[in-house]
Amino acid sequence: MEMNKKGYQAVFPGALYAGFGSLLEIPDILVREGAGKAVLLLDDALKENSEIRGLQERLGASLAGTLTGLPIEPSRDSIRGVYDVVLEKGGDLLIAAGGGSIMDMAKVVAAALTNETFAESGFCDTSLIRKKALPTVMVPTTAGTGAEATPNAIFLIPEQELKAGLVSPQFTASYCVLDPALTLGLPRNLTASTGMDALCHAIESYLSKKANLFSRMLSGYAAALIVANIERACEDGFDREARENMLLGSFIAGMCLSTSGTVAVHALSYPLGGKFHIPHGVSNAILLPEVLKVNLPYCREQYRQLADLMLPEAEWSREEKPERFVEYVELLCRRLRIPENLTEYGVGEEEVEFLTKQAMEVRRLLDQNPHALSEEEIAGVYRKLLK
Ligand SMILES: NC(=O)c1ccc[n+]([C@@H]2O[C@H](COP(=O)([O-])OP(=O)(O)OC[C@H]3O[C@@H](n4cnc5c(N)ncnc54)[C@H](O)[C@@H]3O)[C@@H](O)[C@H]2O)c1
Ligand SMILES: [Fe+2]
Repeated sequence: MEMNKKGYQAVFPGALYAGFGSLLEIPDILVREGAGKAVLLLDDALKENSEIRGLQERLGASLAGTLTGLPIEPSRDSIRGVYDVVLEKGGDLLIAAGGGSIMDMAKVVAAALTNETFAESGFCDTSLIRKKALPTVMVPTTAGTGAEATPNAIFLIPEQELKAGLVSPQFTASYCVLDPALTLGLPRNLTASTGMDALCHAIESYLSKKANLFSRMLSGYAAALIVANIERACEDGFDREARENMLLGSFIAGMCLSTSGTVAVHALSYPLGGKFHIPHGVSNAILLPEVLKVNLPYCREQYRQLADLMLPEAEWSREEKPERFVEYVELLCRRLRIPENLTEYGVGEEEVEFLTKQAMEVRRLLDQNPHALSEEEIAGVYRKLLK
């Protein structure tokens, strides 16, 4: 048995409300928190959503305001504007209903509202977050980043053409509300790419050097739940069971991120988001099969375990299982119509050096990869993805 001598830690949200209709628990949450007024940060795609309308009506005068027009895959510069508006509205609890973009924004704003020096640092220096953040209610509408379950927030830094993560225990949600009704209208392509992001979280956290028995219990279960439901959710967006399972799978995969984190897929993905603005789920999904291939010689046993958990009915011999597992993931991406190369996003051979240098800087994640990837191996992954 693998033992981690240093032990491990995990940070989890305060409370979970899940299932169809759980959105309507929010007014009670306000009462429980003794919060007088809430501010809702809402993804534009949900502006006309009937469940959200119902929530707004029920909150009535306890809703100090709803902010829309918020940026998708936000840059750090955009936080200030949102922070100023929330400050002016004067709420004492933040609700974020949207994908990772909206939830990450809410996390940082909630911590900045009680930690002025963090706000003054341009929302950069998380060591200045000393006081408890404003209570937050995270309502994911993609399935997803799992951002509702993590202490991370990811922003674009335009001047460096890079995306970077901020981490603070104070970014952890006070409440998570997983209401699958909000994901019923998620279009097929977003269901596929955000679902693959969740699968990356599950698989990468299983392979991470920081993985432990506790995190593997969660990541293995999340991976199985996601592969059993992702195609169903793509084929029929109104398949309620598949939507519910995807939302739970992405939440559980998110819970693994605070304890074991992601590895090379996410590390190589950041520069693609930073410079080419490829959506987070799409760049991860494109990278996943190739990264699994470079890691293959070092992860044969983990791939066997993942295959057993995710595909219990596959009749593969012990010897062939790791290769068949990688082939399965590649085929899944194809069936989900994930783009197969980076060329259509404007990435050419001349960009490989830049991308490799930037990826090499994402040490936090690369150091967790089961195998220490060389510069040549990273460049090789990007090259394989050029047409
Ligand atoms: N904090 C974390 O732990 C963490 C983890 C992974 C990724 N991220 C970050 O999260 C962001 C990506 O989040 P995401 O993939 O959830 O997508 P997103 O929030 O960027 O949204 C993607 C698109 O989906 C639309 N959308 C969202 N919900 C919808 C719904 N129910 N119906 C129809 N359209 C809907 C949005 O309007 C947007 O156009 C990136 O910035 C990424 O870096 C954060
Ligand atoms: Fe991710």
